[in-house]
Amino acid sequence: MSAYSEKVMDHFQHPRNMGEIENASGVGTVGNAKCGDIMRIFLDIDDDGIIRDVKFKTFGCGAAVATSSMATELVKGKRIEDALKITNAAVMEALDGLPPVKVHCSLLAEEAIHAALWDYAEKKGIKIEGLEKPKSDIHEGEEEEQEDY
Ligand code: FES
Repeated sequence: MSAYSEKVMDHFQHPRNMGEIENASGVGTVGNAKCGDIMRIFLDIDDDGIIRDVKFKTFGCGAAVATSSMATELVKGKRIEDALKITNAAVMEALDGLPPVKVHCSLLAEEAIHAALWDYAEKKGIKIEGLEKPKSDIHEGEEEEQEDY
């Protein structure tokens, strides 16, 4: 038995929305200093603030691929403020869970989406309510908490 749910395996083996968007409205790149994995998200946002398209690229582990794939599916077609509410916990739930040691991998997708939205807001000169400046390294200033799992 794999430690991964069928949904995780499916999204890992058949990732949705992999690739890049030329002239994207916003691009966000984040990394995990511990494992060295990197994720980049491209967003295409229309004038009504709706995410029309989203693509991702990753140099990451299987769980990072699966969570990014699911996260892109969840934000596609959403308004910016609704996309902001999609947390890594929601992504994991949609995937029927992740093994505890892989929970941190799901943060890459959430942070990369926030970084892409931040980039979009900066380009447009607007402020997105509730969006904080994302960290480029998801472990910046964080305690060694994964070690306890
Ligand atoms: Fe690095 Fe999963 S081990 S993102």
